Formats: sequence, structure tokens, C-alpha cells
Amino acid sequence: MVYSVYRSGRGRQGGPGPALRLSELIGALSHALDMTEGQPPGHCIRCCWIGMHVGREMGMGQAALADLYYTVLLKDLGCSSNAARICALYLADDINFKRGFKTVDGSLSAALRFVFSQTGLGSGLSERLRAVVNILQNGGEISRELFETRCHRGADIAAKMRFPEAVQDGIRNLDEHWDGSGQPQKLAGDAFPLASNVALLAQVADIFQRDRGRDEAIREVKARAGGWFAPQIVAAFLRAAAVPGFWEVLNGPEVEARVFALDPSPQEARVDEDWLDDIAAAFADVIDAKSPFTADHSSRVTLYADMIAEEMGFSEPHRRWLRRAALLHDIGKLAVSNQILDKPGKLDEAEWQAIRMHSWHSARILERVAAFRDIAPIAGGHHERLDGKGYPEGLVRDEICLETRILTVADVFDALSAERPYRAAMPIADALAILDRDSGTAFDPVCVAALRRGLVRLTSGEAAA
Ligand SMILES: [Fe+2]
Ligand SMILES: [Fe+2]
Repeated sequence: MVYSVYRSGRGRQGGPGPALRLSELIGALSHALDMTEGQPPGHCIRCCWIGMHVGREMGMGQAALADLYYTVLLKDLGCSSNAARICALYLADDINFKRGFKTVDGSLSAALRFVFSQTGLGSGLSERLRAVVNILQNGGEISRELFETRCHRGADIAAKMRFPEAVQDGIRNLDEHWDGSGQPQKLAGDAFPLASNVALLAQVADIFQRDRGRDEAIREVKARAGGWFAPQIVAAFLRAAAVPGFWEVLNGPEVEARVFALDPSPQEARVDEDWLDDIAAAFADVIDAKSPFTADHSSRVTLYADMIAEEMGFSEPHRRWLRRAALLHDIGKLAVSNQILDKPGKLDEAEWQAIRMHSWHSARILERVAAFRDIAPIAGGHHERLDGKGYPEGLVRDEICLETRILTVADVFDALSAERPYRAAMPIADALAILDRDSGTAFDPVCVAALRRGLVRLTSGEAAA
């Protein structure tokens, strides 16, 4: 008998359920953004601690503080969208590149030195030269485009998550500088939101204090006063930095709980089931933006998994629960470099190992999020096989629950029928033939049969329309 993890718990029924605090949900998800940016766990949370203290020192009102809170927590929402481009342009591991780039001082010469020292490290001389010359010729436009993609995508995803215009604007303008030297629009002074500048300051302060200690962080922020940062924001930061306990909490185990307690939203915004669906769908966009070859993968897998579940007679609340697992199943890919994800050639053993770890990362990320904790094993198991030859655990048969088996079939079907870096898209009949061939060894035949029925029904529906 197939073990199923789904139980009709409160909150999965579309009914009232235990209301979720928005701050805790977004705070937990922000750990996935930290991974994509190559930052140590809790970076966005720590930035929120810094940013809120700066905002309060500046005398911001409650509404402005609420917008600032989510601008800082979600500042990296668009981070996955330029990862593939960074790999292609700089022939570099996007995660390492992003991590390193943020530790150079704010000058253009240091930024260029870093870029040239990192470009094409693992490539041949001619390839490296070609990349360097391209950067020399088009550096300004390349940089603008990378920041624009990231900021605009982040703002769009924030809108999908139902955050107000002010938060979207805050994210969109994260990389603008007070003196107009930022990206992508080179806006200056009052032409972009104060919250963006506070968020950027918090980012620089946290990265430098983690990397080089608090004195260096203070020195770096001061050095950028009147340049990257408005002088009054730097002054507020210096006052906040002198408050007893500020640094101890920042680097202590209770920072997350303290940041959640700071949420200034009206009635501490609560998330209902519909909003949770929107947040899961928006985060699927973050995942799918990581690689051009996985564009819309999560939403298609969700469609196929839901189709199979419907064919198998799942109730609507059960299907809703499974749809969230499908939307977020590959969230662990945010921790894998695009140099590996998008590699057109054969992967070596270490690269395979990194790929295999993505579903393990999916489970670890989702476990942190109370609202998604019970879908974590489903996402973590989507590359397991009935015969035990899957990964990461090598689970066998009844150790793999029905929902995971459904997700696996939906995932493989999309992987086969969509274009991938190493091959073109496969005709549907061929993809189904592969699923049939491996039914009983890799895949659950009942789920494969349900997919086939669902596809036939979909096709006939389309024909009728
Ligand atoms: Fe996967
Ligand atoms: Fe997948």
C-alpha cells in the first residue's frame, strides 16, 4: 500500500486554519534568496534588523516602516533572473561571482578589477579574452542590463505577492545611488525611494560586518556617505550602530525572532490560504527565472501534477496542497550555480553531485517555512525512484508517498517534453514512451496512466474548443 503524507489538517482545507504571520513566512523564504546571492544564511533577515533600526533613527512613520520592512526582506527577490546571464557574460559561477562582487569597495576601478580577475577563470585563453573584450566594449550596457533585469523582475514578483506599490518601488530602485552613480537609471537624491537607499546600506553593512567585522562595516558605510548613500541615512546608521545590543543581536541566534517581532504592518499582516497560493506561485517565478531552460517549468509541473491528482480522484483541498508542493519542488535549484544547471556538455562527478543536492536543498528550505513544512518531504523526494536508484536518499517503493510519485511523473514528463541545454524538446509520444518504459522501476504506473488520461482529456477539450 502506498503511504500518503497528506492528512486533512487545518489550513489545508481552504478553511480558516491557523493564520500565518506574513513576516515569518517571508523571512523564512528569504533564506532561499540568500543562497542565490551566495550570502551566508540569514543575510536578508539581518539586513532587515539593520534597516529597521536606521528607519526608526530617521523618524519614519509606521506606514513607511512597514514598507521598508518588506523592501529590505525582499530586496533580492529578482536575484535569480540575472544568474544565467552572469554565467554567460563572465564565464563564471554566478553564486561565487555575486558573493565576491559585493565585497569590493564602492569604486568603479575596484569593480572593474574584480570583474576582470574573475572573468573566465576556468576557461581557455581565447574564450577568456573574448569575454574580457566584450566587457571592455559593452561594460556599461551589460551592467545596466543586469541590474535592470534583477530589479524589475523583483518588483514584478513583489506585485504578484500582493505587496504595495511602495515595496515594489523600493525593490526596483535598490541599486540606485544617492549621487546618481547607481543602476539601472542613474537616479539621484529624492528621485528614488528612501527605502531603497536604506536597504542598500543595510546590504553593504551586513556583508562587510560578516566578512570583515563591524569596524570595517562602519568604515565602508561612512566612506560611501554622499556617494552611494544619502548622508542622513549614514548618520542614522551610525546612531543605530551605537545602540547597546545592536551588533550582539544582529549576530546572535535570536535575530530572526527579534526581526519578526519588529514587523510594523497593521495587525501584523496575516496570510490566508489564497494569499499563500499567490506567494507560492510568485516564488515559483523566482525559481524558474534562474535558468532560461527552466522558464515556466514549475508552473507546467504544477499543471501536470494537478491533472494526475484530478484523474486519481483527489479532493480539491488535497490538490491545492499538492499544487504548492509542485510549485516549489525545485526551490533548491536556487543554491546551484548556473554554470552547472545550464551546462550544455557532460557533467563531471562533482557537478552531478551539486545537481543531485538540489532536491535535498528544496526540503531544507521548505522545512524552515512553517506553512510549507509538510510539503518539504514531497519536494525533497521528487527525484527518488521506486527501485531505490533515485536521489538524494535512495528511497524505495513504500518509502515514497503517492504525492511524491505524482510529482516525479509530472516533473520528468515536463523535463522530457521541454527543451533542455543538452537536447531539443521531445515529442509527447516519445516522452510518454520513456515513462512507460520505466514504469514500475522508476515511476508509479498508476500515476503514468493518470497522466496519459489527463493529457488525452486536455487534448480533446482543446479540440472541442
Ligand atoms: Fe528537480
Ligand atoms: Fe523539476
